[in-house]
Amino acid sequence: MRAVAVYPTKREVRVIDHPEPKLTSDTQAKVRVLDVGVCGTDREIISFQYGTPPEGSDYLIIGHESLSEVVETGSKVSKLKRGDLVVMTVRRPCPHPECVACRQGRQDFCYTGDFTERGIKQDHGYMTEFVVEEEQYLHPVPRELRNVAVLVEPLTIAEKSLEQLWMVQRRLPWDCPGANQSPAQCRRAIVLGAGPVGILGAMALKVEGFEVSVYSRSPNHEEKNRILGAIGIPYIAAETHSTADMAKMAGPIDVVYEATGASSVAFDVLKHLGPNAVFIFTGVPGRKAPIPVDTDEIMRNMVLNNQLVLGSVNAPPQAFESAIQHLGAFARQWPDALRSVITDRFPLDRVADALQEQAGGVKNVVSVAS
Ligand code: BGC
Ligand code: ZN
Repeated sequence: MRAVAVYPTKREVRVIDHPEPKLTSDTQAKVRVLDVGVCGTDREIISFQYGTPPEGSDYLIIGHESLSEVVETGSKVSKLKRGDLVVMTVRRPCPHPECVACRQGRQDFCYTGDFTERGIKQDHGYMTEFVVEEEQYLHPVPRELRNVAVLVEPLTIAEKSLEQLWMVQRRLPWDCPGANQSPAQCRRAIVLGAGPVGILGAMALKVEGFEVSVYSRSPNHEEKNRILGAIGIPYIAAETHSTADMAKMAGPIDVVYEATGASSVAFDVLKHLGPNAVFIFTGVPGRKAPIPVDTDEIMRNMVLNNQLVLGSVNAPPQAFESAIQHLGAFARQWPDALRSVITDRFPLDRVADALQEQAGGVKNVVSVAS
């Protein structure tokens, strides 16, 4: 079968012929891959800055944002049948008995660092025709979401962040003054970045009830502005508004969902948080030259305002479940805006074009089964 492989030592990326996988246990399912999304992590892997092939292999099959269709099930597979649409999780547990996180299925919190990630770290990914996987890592998706379900995985980044946010804010009285309101309904959230993770995160915060604005320095932002405008989220351009302007426009900030990996903007925004705010980092910055930061100002504000900074990576199974629920809600409320998050689709033989970032685009998808 065909697969998109990265050879880090040879510095090559190409479509290869890879053996088609077979079921090796009765708890597994075999799936035909339909769609694979391309993200910043993939772009780092294909430029040989990130990613590790499985042990004994000189290449890594990339792709971790996927939608597939079940074609075969082992005899102990109970929740899936042939024809079901599924999204696969990314991270697999480390083998160490003392890692309480991995032993409880929370490899997103692995202590040892010896986890693997499909398409990223020591495990082949999904940009290929067929995959075999344990049922526990497959999440069924309703047929209505066929055209957008490849967005489930990037949305899980926000879902885990939201889970963490609700948990950490139990540290204080965080209810709204009015009765019967979700705490979100009187809170303001700022999303940093208008890439797919930012836009999907903004949608999730919005359906939860937050008043959301997106602050971003995307060049050619007309399309992003249009998508966000259609769902009632203001886009504040960093080119024309400083972080101080943004903070003044938005009002006291309760939550920041960072989805850019740009540390200079992030630390600038950190100065403008409101009382008891939570700042969530999800972007992974590249290594650049150090920048000056007024650490006294940040530390003073953080202490005097009980603020919290939280990093979040990867996502647990329940985040995939909530992402599937939320994606359904987005599709009902904002069908056109949601569809526009996918800028373009490419067949596998045009993967090179898919891997290229388009000016002003949001998400490229490789339609493997087309
Ligand atoms: C993926 C995560 C993964 C992270 C770090 C992201 O692009 O969505 O699942 O944990 O990269 O490798
Ligand atoms: Zn672990």
